[in-house]
Order: sequence, then structure tokens, then C-alpha cells
Amino acid sequence: MDSFVINGGKKLTGEIQIHGSKNSVLPILAASFLVNGKSVIHNCPLLSDVDAALKILTHLGCKVERDGHTVAIDSENVTSSEIPDSLMREMRSSVIFLGAILGRTGEAKLSTPGGCEIGLRPIDMHISAIKQLGAELSEEHGRLEFKVPDKLKGAKITLPFPSVGATENIIIASCVAQGATIISNAAREPEIADLADYLNSCGAKIHSAGDSTIVIEGVKQLHSTNHTVIPDRIAASTYLIAAAATGGKVCIKDIIPAHIGALIPVLKQSGCEITESNRWVCLSAPKRLNRVSIIRTMPYPGFPTDAQAPLTAMLSLADGTSVIIENIFECRYKHVSELIRLGAKISVEGRTAVIEGVPKLTGASVVAPDLRGGFALIIAGLAAVGETVITGIEHIDRGYEKPEVFLSQLGADIKRKESYAEQRQQE
Ligand code: UD1
Repeated sequence: MDSFVINGGKKLTGEIQIHGSKNSVLPILAASFLVNGKSVIHNCPLLSDVDAALKILTHLGCKVERDGHTVAIDSENVTSSEIPDSLMREMRSSVIFLGAILGRTGEAKLSTPGGCEIGLRPIDMHISAIKQLGAELSEEHGRLEFKVPDKLKGAKITLPFPSVGATENIIIASCVAQGATIISNAAREPEIADLADYLNSCGAKIHSAGDSTIVIEGVKQLHSTNHTVIPDRIAASTYLIAAAATGGKVCIKDIIPAHIGALIPVLKQSGCEITESNRWVCLSAPKRLNRVSIIRTMPYPGFPTDAQAPLTAMLSLADGTSVIIENIFECRYKHVSELIRLGAKISVEGRTAVIEGVPKLTGASVVAPDLRGGFALIIAGLAAVGETVITGIEHIDRGYEKPEVFLSQLGADIKRKESYAEQRQQE
């Protein structure tokens, strides 16, 4: 397994362009299975989760071609409606294929994705919604078999919680259902609107995606299209937080500042100067960051759970004590024990983390517990004095494109060290 070796203490300075959004491209790739034709997707990030999604599409009979950040998926002749367990396990978001497979073939066989590093992540809301659209489910030995006896039929669906994945599955399945579907208490994340933009460009009729009530008029079939994925607001947030933690001065180009609207006031409160236009955000950090008022992670437009771990790393260097309450996932503090190895003073009780800022962190060997928690360790390592070695970085590669390249561009001393086994393989 690869590791990152960081020599900390260097202020990040300069400008970078952020890659396409992981959380947009994954449902878009899944939805491309519905299309009777070719989807050409631009600004597709180079991530291992994207590789996993493309493997699933190939398994289902789609022809997939990739040229850098552009992917072409030809779903004209699909051949399967089953995702094997091994592919389901590669990516938790594989459940997002459910709506597309059912919509296209009238049946779907997949396994329960199970829990993951950040929580149990049940799929009860996905299943209940898909049943309301007319699918029947039989379950055996962890395998789920869905069948649509007639055709998917539009329905009025009220989600008990604005689940991002469940909203996406409903949109995808219902855009080829008979009649209209109304989703109430839908998730409002920008990635939902991006998915709807993609599907509408294929001929779907999805209205008000991005609001909490979404209306979908079913159409017979979808046609070929080109789509450009929105910039990754979580990656943008992460790099801004990293700049703040190192006392740096960084501009992030080609992002949509409104998408990081919940983070900006937090960074300002910590003492950072922020300037923004309609396509970029610049941050200049103070000598020492201030503590911030209590942060509660919430569905969009609230503070994103995905930025919680990076922010925890930043606040561990602030002057004073900050408090974070994690409302979305139940196990999302696994990075804390690793941050403590670098000298952070954080205590966690249930969903609350109390972060007592320290004047400095010192390098240590740590293990990335999950995707965002892994990047939190990079941030701590960049700000720490001395060397930090992070293993388990395959988690980070799921959602951040070549972080060592982007961070080196900003002046960081970070290197990817290939494992001994991989070096031998290349020889
Ligand atoms: C998506 C994002 C992830 C982000 C999360 C919350 C993608 C690929 N991933 O994940 O980065 O952290 O939104 O913003 O877009 N839940 C249930 N039953 C369900 C579905 C969800 O109980 O059927 C719970 C989850 O366990 C969690 C909460 O609802 O506690 C929110 O989950 P959800 O919004 O569905 O997140 P994901 O779509 O999995």
C-alpha cells in the first residue's frame, strides 16, 4: 500500500484549479446506464471511485472509453442487470446504480452495500422509494433482487430525511417511469441539480432539482448527450482549510463560491481574509487562527459533514476551544485518535468533538481511517513540525485527484511513496 510522506511547516501559497465533483460524477455515471445512446462526460475526475463505477458499467455491458478527464459511455446495448458482490463492495455508492438498472431493464440484482468506515449507512429509504415506484423486492443471503412486474410508475414520495443517495435513486428511476413523481423533503445538494441537468440534457423532464420538492415527469427513453461535471465543492473546501491551517495564501480557481457558502463564514471567523468572484475564492490566513463558534453538520445548505474532518484538523491549531457536532454520520470521528498522535487535544463524546487548540503539532506516523479523515491527516501533517507518514491512503485516492501534485503546486513538501510490493511489480 502507498503512503504519503510530508515534511510539514510550509505555508501553502499559490493557486490551483479544482477537479470535477466526485459526488456529482458517480450518480451521473450510474444514470448513463439509462440512456439509449452515448454519454460524453467532461471534467470527470481521476479517482478510484470513478474507476469502480466504470468497472460496474463495463460489467453491465456498456462500452466505456476514457481520455484523461473525458469519459464516453455507450449504453446502447446493455447486457446485464446484476452487480456482483465484489464490485458492490468496491464502492459504497454502488447502490446508486439501482434506479438506473431497474429503469432500463425492469429488474436489478445487487448486494446490500453494508456499513462503512463512517457509519452503518442503511439503504432503507432507497428501498422504500423504489418500492413506491412499483418494484418488488426479494432478499436472500445479503442479495437484493428487484423486479418490476409491469412498468415503474410515478408516485408521491416523502423522504423521512433528505438523503442525497435516495433522492438521486428516485430521480434516476422515475425519469423513465409512467407518469409524474413528486419527491418531498428531497436533498438540495448541488450534485442533485447537476444530475438533473445531465438527465434533462438527455431528454428527461426534471423540475426544481436543488429545491426540497422535485417533480419528475416520466419520459419513454433518454438520448445521447454531452455534459460537464460541476467543480468539487468538498475538494475546494478541503484545500482552503489546508491553506488556513498552514497560515497560507491560496486561490482556488473555477469553483462555484455559492457551493461553499457554509464554510466561508467559518473561515472568516477563524481570522482568514476571504475574497471571491463568481468563479474563484482566495484565502489569506492570519498568523494564528481563532477558535470558532459551535459547528453543526447539516444537509445542504448547512455545514457539510464531508468538510468536518478537515476542519477538525484546522481547529486543532486555533487559539481557543471549538466544538463540532456531527449530525449526519454516527462514526465520523475516526481521524481524531490519529490527530491526537500529532499532538492535537480533542475529546469526543457521542456526536460532539471538543477541540482545544494547541500552538503546534508535531509529525508522526498515522493511518488514514477514511476518505475525508485521511485528508484531515494530510492537513495536520502539512501544518506540523517535522515528518508525518500517512498510510491507508487508498481511502484518500477515492475522492481527491492526485493530492500530492496539487499540494506540491502550492509549495508543500509531500511525496507519494509506493509500497515495496508495488515497486517490485514495476521492476
Ligand atoms: C452522500 C455523499 C457523501 C456525503 C453524504 C451526506 C455521494 C457519493 N456521497 O452520501 O459524501 O457525506 O451524502 O452529505 O454523494 N440514511 C439512512 N437510510 C438510507 C439512506 C441514508 O438511514 O436509506 C442515512 C445515512 O446513514 C446517513 C444520512 O442518512 O446517516 C445521510 O445519508 P445520505 O444523504 O444518503 O448520504 P449518501 O448519499 O450515502
